[in-house]
Amino acid sequence: MTFVTICRQLFNTLTSPRHLILLLFLTSVLLYLLINQQQDKSCQYLRPDLGLRGNSERSKLSPQKRDSASENWLCENDFSEIMILPPTHKKALTYFKCRHLTAPSILRYNVGTWPAPNDLNKVVSTIFEKVKRGFFVDAYAGDGITDSNTLLLEVGDQWSGVVIEPNDTQRSILVNLNRKAWLADVCLSPYVGVFQVQNNMQKERNPPNNSNSGLINQPRMSSRTTECFPLVTITSALKVKRVNFMVLNLGTHVLNVLKTLPYDDTLQVDIILVKHLFGTMSGKEILTFMESKGYFVTHSSLLHAIFALKMPNQ
Ligand SMILES: *[C@@H]1O[C@H](CO)[C@@H](O)[C@H](O)[C@H]1NC(C)=O
Ligand SMILES: *[C@@H]1O[C@H](CO)[C@@H](O)[C@H](O)[C@H]1NC(C)=O
Repeated sequence: MTFVTICRQLFNTLTSPRHLILLLFLTSVLLYLLINQQQDKSCQYLRPDLGLRGNSERSKLSPQKRDSASENWLCENDFSEIMILPPTHKKALTYFKCRHLTAPSILRYNVGTWPAPNDLNKVVSTIFEKVKRGFFVDAYAGDGITDSNTLLLEVGDQWSGVVIEPNDTQRSILVNLNRKAWLADVCLSPYVGVFQVQNNMQKERNPPNNSNSGLINQPRMSSRTTECFPLVTITSALKVKRVNFMVLNLGTHVLNVLKTLPYDDTLQVDIILVKHLFGTMSGKEILTFMESKGYFVTHSSLLHAIFALKMPNQ
């Protein structure tokens, strides 16, 4: 009886126009807040090529920033401000995420014919036979398919991870594969700091002097900079504390990059594959260094070496 009375009273209240309007107003305010919050959280990670970035951030920027290249409009800091900060500073992480990180693709894989597993990938498959949904870091991933040691884990065992590739040409192939991994278009810093390298330095230093050549609008040699971050910026930005598999295809750069890892409980890396290790002079140095950090060699070939972290129970 009382339930019916309450319902009737409520109905009567709602049908009074003033209350109905108030209720509608409150509901829309609530909905607006809810939707806006969701957008703010997700917009900076969405793929720019899908055109899904939210507009809510854009309006917060100053007019000058709004006019600059559309891909940069989310970033509130300049690189010069980031360079002087510790590489895991909140501002550095935000900068890295909005300028350099692309979310895993939501589109179907576009990998064409599947390459036959090479010897190295057979070893990798065996090591991770029992690991599903692990996390990898793949640097440098090249075109993301030829010689890739992580694609098989991603496709076969639902791993996620991050592929790092600074080369524009390689990356343009990579993005079209629609990999379900994060993509970072940076180079890796050989020390725990952030810096910039200038590509085509030669061309930049000697700009063509056409003031007297009679040619108007002669295209200038393209010159751009690549921004370099240490691995810890990338893992911190993704809030990753454990990496099951790290692939380093960095040539002579590799030892210095290995030295930037913290080797403590802020980041645990279980297995590290160093590619083309023995093509470098520093092969032996790397072995010594990795041993000093508690790793042992589980596999080595003429070219590559795989290191595993000694677990406390081993
Ligand atoms: C980028 O990769 C392409 C294709 O492998 C290569 O030809 C080019 O030299 C690379 N560019 C740089 C700057 O390393
Ligand atoms: C460019 O050409 C002008 C005219 O010939 C000359 O005066 C000037 O010094 C040149 N600048 C450089 C940087 O070479």
